[in-house]
Amino acid sequence: MARASNYRARPEAAGWQSRLAAAQLVWAAMAKGEDLESAMGSSPAYRSLEGADRGFARAIASAALRAVGRIDWALGGMVQRPLADIEPPVLALLRAGAAQLWLMKVAEHAAVSATVEAAAHWDVARRGGGLINAVLRRAARESGAFESSPAEAVWPDWLAAKLRSGLGAERAGAMALLQLEEPAIDITLRDAGDAAGWSDRLGGALLPNGSIRLLDGAGLTELPGYAEGEWWLQDVAASLPVALLGEVAGLAIADLCAAPGGKAMQIAARGARLSAVEMSAPRLERLRENAARTRLSMDLIQADARTWRPQALLDAVLLDAPCSALGVIRRHPEGVWRRDPKDLARYPMIQRALIDAAAAMLRQGGTLIYSVCTPSPEEGREVVEAAISGGAWRRRPVVAGEARGFDHSLTPDGDLLTAPAAIASDAAQIRCDVIYMARLERT
Ligand SMILES: C[S@@+](CC[C@H](N)C(=O)[O-])C[C@H]1O[C@@H](n2cnc3c(N)ncnc32)[C@H](O)[C@@H]1O
Repeated sequence: MARASNYRARPEAAGWQSRLAAAQLVWAAMAKGEDLESAMGSSPAYRSLEGADRGFARAIASAALRAVGRIDWALGGMVQRPLADIEPPVLALLRAGAAQLWLMKVAEHAAVSATVEAAAHWDVARRGGGLINAVLRRAARESGAFESSPAEAVWPDWLAAKLRSGLGAERAGAMALLQLEEPAIDITLRDAGDAAGWSDRLGGALLPNGSIRLLDGAGLTELPGYAEGEWWLQDVAASLPVALLGEVAGLAIADLCAAPGGKAMQIAARGARLSAVEMSAPRLERLRENAARTRLSMDLIQADARTWRPQALLDAVLLDAPCSALGVIRRHPEGVWRRDPKDLARYPMIQRALIDAAAAMLRQGGTLIYSVCTPSPEEGREVVEAAISGGAWRRRPVVAGEARGFDHSLTPDGDLLTAPAAIASDAAQIRCDVIYMARLERT
């Protein structure tokens, strides 16, 4: 048991302001249910910081929130009472301190004394200084405690079970490890012709499918080509559904769930006549801005795709359906702790209704690409199989080489399920979001 008796605050400890801001962000996310972005906007302690101090506070909070389940698992063995009985601000300081020690490898003397000092400057945590000092000293000594926590403890139990059922144990384990890293920044080019040139100009790495992975996410909007609309942000996996459409120049296509427009811009950039349908007005506005920046032409339609119908039958439909988004949780890892698994049940119904609507829009032989950013079979394979068994669709299996760099993500049925792979082959090392996609043909 950690003991509080030998604690004494050191007023000269440097950098307590960053630790205080970081802990307040962690507290806002975990105790108040805010996401990290909005917590950064509302925390006075964070906003009072500048430059490197602000960056450091954000890095601590982000590391703590990415790993909070594992941090708690390891801290649980160092505190005698349940963590739930610790005052939330004190627990936030412990989590922020542990993240410095275990994940950021900050030296013990700096991490511990500055975090203890932060407690002394935070009214609601002041009485926890002794506990924080004792537990963090022990955490520094037992530096292997985090490594010995199970990788999947980064998620609540229900989520770990769900991801294992969708991905299998090995890929779920790889996904859990990937959550500890900040996601890479990938971009999609408007004109794929000069991918090597753009990758040189931007100092990025060209991926096999033509996306470019930037080495650094700083100052994105200042980079060459952004203002001119030559490229947009899009995870490499999110760019694959449009690749499965093949040649689209001149075809009549609808994107039924279009905003903010990553995929709509890909389709328009390849010369299709595109109707971009989106139900939410503010999100349609974001799509409008994106289309304007990239100078891409498309019809923007605010409508519920379940009832909207085109004037003439279409050649293809992209349905990037609303879903549980469990495959992209690494982008907002703090959010999973406040999710109720019961909420997930509504998605398959909406997804099936949208597929039925797509059937009424397509000519015979027309193509539907269905995608969701989750590995849950209930929202992916099972929805697709129910649609096929209804008689309006047949599967047009994806074949090796179509989604370059992702052959390892082909399923036995000919769908694609991208996933961080633990398999050591070059192609399998593309770290990406988890996206399921299937290609169907209107019978
Ligand atoms: C996964 S996001 C789409 C992302 C987009 N395809 C992209 O690549 O940028 C799903 C979108 O569908 C919209 N949506 C949800 N239900 C809809 C419906 N019934 N009709 C039209 N849009 C809908 C949501 O507002 C959301 O913007």
